[in-house]
Amino acid sequence: MPRWPQVVLMVGALVASGGAAVSAGLQDFAAIERGRYLANAADCGSCHTVPGSGQRFAGGRPIETPFGVLVAPNITPDRETGIGAWSDEEFDAALRQGLRRDGKRLYPAMPYPYFTRMSRQDTKDIRAYLSTIAPVHNTVAANKLPFPLNIRTGMFAWDRLYFSPGEFRANPDKSIEWNRGAYLVQGPGHCGACHTPKTLFGGDKASASLQGYTLQGWVAPDITSGEGPLASWPADDLAQYLKTGHNRFAAAAGLMGEVVDFSTSKLSDADVKAMATYLKDIKGPKAAMDSSSDQKVLTAGGAIYQDLCSACHKSDGTGVPNLIPDLSHAATVESGDPTTVLRVILQGAQSVATDREPTGPAMPAFGWQLNDVQVAAVASYVRNHWGKATKVGEELVRKERAALHARTN
Ligand code: HEC
Ligand code: HEC
Ligand code: HEC
Repeated sequence: MPRWPQVVLMVGALVASGGAAVSAGLQDFAAIERGRYLANAADCGSCHTVPGSGQRFAGGRPIETPFGVLVAPNITPDRETGIGAWSDEEFDAALRQGLRRDGKRLYPAMPYPYFTRMSRQDTKDIRAYLSTIAPVHNTVAANKLPFPLNIRTGMFAWDRLYFSPGEFRANPDKSIEWNRGAYLVQGPGHCGACHTPKTLFGGDKASASLQGYTLQGWVAPDITSGEGPLASWPADDLAQYLKTGHNRFAAAAGLMGEVVDFSTSKLSDADVKAMATYLKDIKGPKAAMDSSSDQKVLTAGGAIYQDLCSACHKSDGTGVPNLIPDLSHAATVESGDPTTVLRVILQGAQSVATDREPTGPAMPAFGWQLNDVQVAAVASYVRNHWGKATKVGEELVRKERAALHARTN
């Protein structure tokens, strides 16, 4: 926010310069201030600045990704090494479509999968603000990704899988405050970049939005109000954490400390409150199913199956001959009694090692990762999709978990 004397001076200067210029000048001023605010909400400065360098937005900061190190480019208005020569359209395409100026695709370490929820006006205003920054001549070192990820055309497939472009759409059933919070969290705030679990290829697991992820040696916890630690935080405490970095429950360190420092602490009280209101209302899979018909359970179960199981058992359940069982023909799946299916999901399974195959293939345990509702959903999906068996309730999962626990202790 501008300090008042500054505003008064600017307005004074504009008034002195005559009628038409006044409104144009005020508009520019408003656009630049709005752009500055959004650049904070989007935390552009933290990735595009080498900490301690004093050269804000001049790039060069290495960004750790699951695949290797990317280096954030110079986005100051320097015409040669920054984005000074870019058109507003090119800038918009980078932010909202993930396109470089040469038309190739950016890597999603630049959070365009979230920034795409911003509007054309938003990116225009951010550009207007960045144009007021001092240009810094700084050539940024090239990225260091291992082959084949260094081939940008590969990003085409990635985008097809994980990028759903398009502006934020308000939910008419929710309040204005809720929608403002949803826009900030899903769009500029790109909270999911750290808080949403990723697939093997680093895409967001859409079925588990904001349910927690571990990156760069930090755990970004579940920030939905379903099962995670935030379930018991009142909205005001959540807003306080975002605004100040601490509250009576927690203090932000590491990556989140930076997010608070450069981004959320610079937002208005109304905006951090709006984010809290939204986060308090999203509940992850548990709530999605509380209100539900069987179909919802199966949809949720199918999503979990695609995320966690299909890598081995294949999307169509057929598995890999002699290695991974074919679920579409497995007796355990067709059986009326779900005990074995639940046990395998909760505890994993090690097929017997024989002389011919001394190391039998193993199925990992998911009991530590999935809660009862999620295990029930994926078990229901598998049994319903490939068998004709009835739905598995979460009570049964709870019982089975307790029985397994008793047996191993
Ligand atoms: C989480 C870190 C991160 C944040 C936050 C971030 N960027 Fe980036 N940005 C990057 C990385 C990394 C690249 C390079 C990606 C690549 O090489 O494919 C990049 C690329 C870009 C490019 C393309 C530059 C070029 O030379 O091709 C522009 C423009 C850009 N960012 C602007 C922004 C703006 C504006 C914001 C805030 C609205 C922002 N970025 C926020 C990491 C980030
Ligand atoms: C760069 C990665 C990153 C981004 C982006 C990010 N977070 Fe975090 N967040 C973390 C990490 C890591 C922690 C754990 C912090 C700690 O251990 O002190 C955390 C913690 C939190 C917590 C406290 C949870 C608890 O149980 O203590 C909240 C609330 C939170 N983040 C909300 C958000 C919101 C809202 C956004 C988007 C505006 C966001 N975060 C964006 C990495 C991130
Ligand atoms: C890392 C690969 C892998 C993943 C991931 C995996 N499985 Fe398995 N699964 C296996 C293997 C290997 C077996 C056979 C184990 C055995 O022979 O005892 C198996 C066995 C099973 C069985 C028993 C089949 C039978 O014929 O008795 C079921 C049911 C099953 N998996 C379901 C799942 C579900 C549901 C998921 C996701 C939550 C999943 N699996 C994820 C590898 C995997």
